[in-house]
Amino acid sequence: MKTEMVSAFAEDFEEKVKELGAVIRRGGLVGFPTETVYGLGGNALDGEAAKKIYAAKGRPSDNPLIVHVADAAQAEQLARELSPLERRLMADFWPGPLTLVVPKKDIIPAETSGGLDTVALRCPVHPAAQALIRAAGVPIAGPSANLSGRPSPTSAEDVMHDLGGRIDAIIDGGPCRIGVESTIVSCAGGRITIYRPGGLAKEALEAYAPVEIDPGIQSGSAHPKAPGMKYRHYAPAAPLTVYTGDAEKTEAAILSFAEKKDKTYGFFVSEETAAKLPVGMPVFIWGRRGDEKSMAHRLFEGLHYFNDHPVEQIIGEGIASTGLGLAIMNRLTKASGYHIIVETAK
Ligand code: TXA
Ligand code: MG
Repeated sequence: MKTEMVSAFAEDFEEKVKELGAVIRRGGLVGFPTETVYGLGGNALDGEAAKKIYAAKGRPSDNPLIVHVADAAQAEQLARELSPLERRLMADFWPGPLTLVVPKKDIIPAETSGGLDTVALRCPVHPAAQALIRAAGVPIAGPSANLSGRPSPTSAEDVMHDLGGRIDAIIDGGPCRIGVESTIVSCAGGRITIYRPGGLAKEALEAYAPVEIDPGIQSGSAHPKAPGMKYRHYAPAAPLTVYTGDAEKTEAAILSFAEKKDKTYGFFVSEETAAKLPVGMPVFIWGRRGDEKSMAHRLFEGLHYFNDHPVEQIIGEGIASTGLGLAIMNRLTKASGYHIIVETAK
């Protein structure tokens, strides 16, 4: 299959997107941009399309797909019931990087929901995503458009790299503004439980109800509520160890690897730390220290970076787990296989 690349900025996009909507309705697959990461879209109401998505990604089929809707009205057609709290969150944060897990109606096939009785609903802001959902006329099932286990794609080229030849088309809408996936929550029991930290900060939700983080995603031992959180994810091309905590000690720990000759080290660090590394070291500079927006934006690019710049071990620098930092550290925890070393001030 030849994968067609379609620019969202081309003059004829309005026409083009109608054709792509038809591709989705016919059971085809289209990669599309969102403000978080690129999605791999298929008709959420078609179990066969869901199977194709799992096959294209190489994803285990017990891992349910997020269903993208154009607005709250479309969500009402898919949810068996919505609570006042869920409706308030939809009104205040949609379109945007918040995904709600709610009881599903039967029109969502078991293939899409991974056999669960719930469905994860998300309403993206990106105009090209909105245009595709409206053109399709059906809700769009859309996991991140990467091969299972690889970092999520934040550009159309990333999608082509992983899924070229396996899907019908990709809409190029430019780099993703946020760069980490949506925050997934459940409002069961009148509380907000974060199943996956993401592009909407925990702090933003605290005004609405008590917020807790699913303990299953923190330890790696318990069963996470979002089935996808149990898989190793975001794996970069070499093992990754992340240092975080006290800034001075973290920096010293990272810089000590520049002296070591036992293997080739690559560095995934702040501007401040990078400036102290010897010239010529393989380094991905991912923003000013503590600048969570630019770090989120460049996180997956950084994890991809070492594909083209091979090293034997990656040494990363973490960030405080507040705001977007919670999502960033969650992804780094998974990318490193729990190799996070916390430096405490003496
Ligand atoms: O930002 C995003 O959310 C992106 C863009 C494309 O919208 N999508 C995305 O989808 O990250 P994906 O499939 O890579 O991650 C979906 C996560 C998985 O961990 C899955 O287990 C969880 O959502 N999930 C989906 N439906 C669920 C449900 N009914 N209950 C619990 N977890 C669910
Ligand atoms: Mg994913």
